[in-house]
Amino acid sequence: MTDYKELNERLRALISDVPHPIANLANAAALLFETLEGINWAGFYLMKDEKLVLGPFQGRPACIEIAPGRGVCGTAVREDKTQLVPDVHKFPGHIACDPTSRSELVVPLHAGGCVAGVLDIDSPLQGRFTQDDREGIEQFAAILERELGGRLVGLV
Ligand code: SME
Repeated sequence: MTDYKELNERLRALISDVPHPIANLANAAALLFETLEGINWAGFYLMKDEKLVLGPFQGRPACIEIAPGRGVCGTAVREDKTQLVPDVHKFPGHIACDPTSRSELVVPLHAGGCVAGVLDIDSPLQGRFTQDDREGIEQFAAILERELGGRLVGLV
């Protein structure tokens, strides 16, 4: 089980007072990738021209653009809601960037009251993510929103 209190403190320490949003997202992805067990991808998609565009991440190369409403990430944007998907094979329209991914957790990121992107975490294990992970990662995303705010816009 992940100690989210510790993880989120490490995130704060890594990014507070750092005025470089891409560096902060890159370090946030690296922190998730080295800390969470049983995952194969962690990173960001950011809104540009009404589409999600690939941002800083750790893991295998991934699809570049995702339209709102498409796949798990696009659904998180359209519904402006966290998506916890225990089995992506049962999620209609799932985008298989990596065919070994089995479960997924996607949390929307906001700037100025609008969805500015998503934090996406994938796992090769079915049912990898729990409610505890959901709450911990939603707090992780809230820290990023607070620290980066409007600087999330126009990064990609
Ligand atoms: N699986 C995602 C696409 C992004 S990759 O997993 C990195 C989806 O269906 O939204």
